[in-house]
Amino acid sequence: MNKQIILKTRPEGKPSLENFDFQEIEKAQNGEIVLETKYISVDPYLRGRMRDEKSYIEPFEVGEPLESMVVSEVIESRNKDFKKGEHVIGMLNWKKQQSHNAKDLRKIDPSMAPLSAYLGVLGLTGLTAYLALDKIGKLKKGETLLVSGAAGAVGSVVGQIGKIKGCRVVGIAGSDEKIKHIQEKYDFDAGINYKTTDHMKKAIQEACPDGVDVYFDNVGGEILDAALQNINKAARIINCGAISIYNETGVPKGPRPEGILIKKSALMQGFLIRDHVKEYERAISDLAGWLKSGKLKYDETVIEGFEKTPQAFIDIFDGKNLGKMVVKV
Ligand SMILES: NC(=O)c1ccc[n+]([C@@H]2O[C@H](COP(=O)([O-])OP(=O)(O)OC[C@H]3O[C@@H](n4cnc5c(N)ncnc54)[C@H](OP(=O)(O)O)[C@@H]3O)[C@@H](O)[C@H]2O)c1
Repeated sequence: MNKQIILKTRPEGKPSLENFDFQEIEKAQNGEIVLETKYISVDPYLRGRMRDEKSYIEPFEVGEPLESMVVSEVIESRNKDFKKGEHVIGMLNWKKQQSHNAKDLRKIDPSMAPLSAYLGVLGLTGLTAYLALDKIGKLKKGETLLVSGAAGAVGSVVGQIGKIKGCRVVGIAGSDEKIKHIQEKYDFDAGINYKTTDHMKKAIQEACPDGVDVYFDNVGGEILDAALQNINKAARIINCGAISIYNETGVPKGPRPEGILIKKSALMQGFLIRDHVKEYERAISDLAGWLKSGKLKYDETVIEGFEKTPQAFIDIFDGKNLGKMVVKV
């Protein structure tokens, strides 16, 4: 039988398994193409789509299947551009199989990179790291780059690009093992475990003795506040993500950044990867080149089993992933 995962109820605070449901559905057939799911990407931003709120992307509907970037195999085709056995990536439902009209799908080549890599280092998270640095970070050799969520999918690529560009790179993550890992595998110059550090402002000051030129923010909240206290003149702050407040139910309060931004003539700018679709090709070509030459490495936390998809998503909020969290179906 075919199966799908629906949003059963909207989460209040941190999502839980009760917010999801599994349904047996009819076998997919008769579409222009029929797809069999191979890998599902679970991402922090999906939490935002679970709220009944207008945003840059439609909210999920209660009772309807969830969707994210998915890698699938074409198992039936009536479309001349897609052949049986080929692999595609696209924004697809959390279903084991699905019929599709073949629009907005991109073919991917498993001989170039493992299929799961197209959801991470060669997918939206790798592209986000590359293009946010390119558009806002504008790294210069010798500058200090600070990145939070440093052992995650976006953060680990950000740090490595910083090293490629000749910067001092400092990462913030949530365990000593992660800090050790980003220094040993990715060559970060220093790291801060935010869960065991009681004075983040001081810890950043010590790890970045020349101040912070670019802060790549994946988490927001108090870590952003502490990073701002350490920025240099003409610093660039990239607001890429704010996972520390995604489960907040009220309006988050905190220090106000305007005084620091004025004093330091700094730029703080939000970034959305979907605004930069035209530049994906250029970015993927660089990322793939660095991967091939060994300058860029990556990690994946692969959870096996379609039924584990909701738990894999929830586990991101507890930092259980190293690199990109993906589900192998
Ligand atoms: N703007 C865009 O276009 C765009 C695109 C992709 C992703 N993003 C954003 O970028 C960020 C990273 O995404 P990703 O896919 O690469 O996820 P990820 O970093 O692979 O996973 C999220 C990580 O966040 C950390 N975390 C969880 N709760 C936290 C908290 N309260 N405070 C600090 N850290 C916390 C956890 O690591 P620790 O063990 O270190 O806590 C977890 O592993 C997310 O905020 C995401 O929404 C934005």
